[in-house]
Amino acid sequence: MPKSKTSLKLRLPRIKATQAEHDETINKIASLRQFYHYVEIKGTQTTQVHKHPLPVWDEIHPLIPLTVKDMKCLDVGCNSGFYSLILAANGADVLGIDINQTDIDVVAQAEWLETEFKTGAKFQRTDVLDLPSSHHNQYDMVLCLGVYHHLPDTDTALQKINKLMKKDALLFFGSVTNRFGESQYYAEDSAEFANDPYCYRIATPEDILEDLQENGFELVEEIPIDSSVYYGLFKKVKTTRKKTTRFTPDKIAEIVAQQRKAKEAELKKSKKSAKTKKSKK
Ligand SMILES: C[S@@+](CC[C@H](N)C(=O)[O-])C[C@H]1O[C@@H](n2cnc3c(N)ncnc32)[C@H](O)[C@@H]1O
Repeated sequence: MPKSKTSLKLRLPRIKATQAEHDETINKIASLRQFYHYVEIKGTQTTQVHKHPLPVWDEIHPLIPLTVKDMKCLDVGCNSGFYSLILAANGADVLGIDINQTDIDVVAQAEWLETEFKTGAKFQRTDVLDLPSSHHNQYDMVLCLGVYHHLPDTDTALQKINKLMKKDALLFFGSVTNRFGESQYYAEDSAEFANDPYCYRIATPEDILEDLQENGFELVEEIPIDSSVYYGLFKKVKTTRKKTTRFTPDKIAEIVAQQRKAKEAELKKSKKSAKTKKSKK
């Protein structure tokens, strides 16, 4: 595959602003609340916390085809829209979708950024599962970054994403992962992982890969960025999985109950052996 080196614009354009426009932008950003994406705009920026997703984008863009002009792209879980905007700024026809999982209207943030950068990206508040069949076989490239661990039912969602893609289309995928130990599953509304009530799983890279492969994606290249996240470029191939779902919220609750029971049993066992050791002394 041709690798893009310099042909893509790698940053959103700089927008010149008067002092009044700069001040207005600061107020606008504050009114839209905490942004997830760091975007420099009119001499200020959307977030001071970190520069996500620039380091990720800098690793991903060399794998993007030399030109994205005329490519139809879908950014699943677009959040405040950085990836959608940068692809559209490079000429792609982009739809960014997000369910607005928290009480922050991330789609409103993306829409505002679009009014400023005028890239042509479109945004929609929707669950990927609810995209109508008119979107099937439409997309040349899909981004699904940081969404997988939020999906209650990964099989259904991955199969839907597969359906949305054209033959041989590309999927840029990323998910929080657990490289040390077994996949962990969390019950609905549990706040067990980083106080995130919307996290259903922290799966191992092996389990994530198997999930993708069984739902019709072939690994093109893993993208090593951060050990806590699994990133890869995939290609759509034929689905081998029949219409089954291994994970539903009920199934996850069942797994969580089993995992808790196993942990409790382990704890009991280690307490007992500590007691025995003590009494032997
Ligand atoms: C951790 S953020 C990742 C944002 C962005 N893709 C990135 O990598 O920077 C996950 C986003 O996915 C959205 N999301 C979760 N499930 C979704 C679904 N089924 N359909 C569309 N968006 C979803 C959430 O609302 C959230 O904004």
